[in-house]
Amino acid sequence: MALYSGICLAVLYGLIATTAAQADMKDSCHWKCLEFAQLWPGSFCMTFLKIPCRIPKQVDGWTIHGLWPDGKTGCNRTWKLTQKDIDDLQVDLRHYWPSLVKKDAFKFWQDEWYKHGTCGACADSMSCPHKYFSLVLELRTKFSIDTSLSAAGIKPSCNNSYTYEHFHSALFYLHTHINLQCYIYKKQQILMQIKIPLSKDLSVGCHPHEENFSKSYYEPCTNKSKIYLYPFTPHPRHPCS
Ligand SMILES: *[C@@H]1O[C@H](CO)[C@@H](O)[C@H](O)[C@H]1NC(C)=O
Ligand SMILES: *[C@@H]1O[C@H](CO)[C@@H](O)[C@H](O)[C@H]1NC(C)=O
Ligand SMILES: *[C@@H]1O[C@H](CO)[C@@H](O)[C@H](O)[C@H]1NC(C)=O
Ligand SMILES: *[C@@H]1O[C@H](CO)[C@@H](O)[C@H](O)[C@H]1NC(C)=O
Repeated sequence: MALYSGICLAVLYGLIATTAAQADMKDSCHWKCLEFAQLWPGSFCMTFLKIPCRIPKQVDGWTIHGLWPDGKTGCNRTWKLTQKDIDDLQVDLRHYWPSLVKKDAFKFWQDEWYKHGTCGACADSMSCPHKYFSLVLELRTKFSIDTSLSAAGIKPSCNNSYTYEHFHSALFYLHTHINLQCYIYKKQQILMQIKIPLSKDLSVGCHPHEENFSKSYYEPCTNKSKIYLYPFTPHPRHPCS
C-alpha cells in the first residue's frame, strides 16, 4: 500500500510541479478515444466452447471487460502490474472486474494493464496502475448498465426478448454511438457486450475512427430480430436449457 501510493504520488507531484512536463505527457497520448467495455457474464460464457468459463459467486451483474485507448496496445513493456499496486482495490475488482476464463484474476488484470493501461498512462487521470484501476471501477458505477436496464424494465430472462430499440433507449444517455454486441446462438441474438466510447476527459460521445478500435469477434446487434439477455445459471454454457 505505502509503496504504491509513494509511486503514484511521486508521479502526481511531478506533474503539478512542472506544467511543461504535464503538457509533454498529455501530448504523448497517441489516442483520441477510449472504449469502456462491459460484458454480460451469462452470455460471455456461452461463447466459450473449449475453455472452461465460470462466473464467480460474488458476481451479480454486468462486469468490466476493460478500458481501452484506441489504436496501439502494449505501450510500455517494462511497466508490470504488481499486487501491491492494487491491494486496496482487490475486493471490488473481484466483484466488478472478475476473470471468467482465467483461474487467476490477477493475471487478467496484468494483461489488461499491459495491453491497455500502459497506453492510457499518458493521461493524468490514469497515470499509474492504481489510478487506472480505480478509474475503471468508478466508470462502472457512473455508467451502470444494470441500473439503466432495470430502470427500463429489462430483466434477464429465458422467455422474454427485447427489441433493439428498447435497449437503445434504455441506454440513450450514454450517447447514440454506444456499441451493442451480440452473440448469435441458435439464430437468436444474445446481448453480450456494451462498449461506450469516451473522450480523453472521460465524457461520453467520442467519435473514433472505426478502424482504430479493436476488432471484435462479436457481431453488432441489429434491429432485425429481438435480443435476449439470459440469466446466469450454474451451467453458464447452456443457461436456458
Ligand atoms: C488512428 O490510428 C492512426 C495510426 O496509428 C493514427 O495516425 C490516427 O491518429 C488514429 N486516429 C485517431 C482518431 O486516434
Ligand atoms: C515505462 O515504465 C517504467 C516503469 O517500469 C517507467 O519508469 C517509465 O517512465 C515508463 N515509460 C513511459 C514512456 O511511460
Ligand atoms: C420461462 O420458461 C420456462 C421453461 O420454458 C418456464 O419454466 C418458466 O416458468 C418461464 N418463466 C416465465 C417467467 O414465464
Ligand atoms: C433498423 O436499422 C436500420 C439501420 O440502422 C435503420 O435504417 C432502420 O430505420 C431501423 N429500423 C427501425 C424500425 O428502427
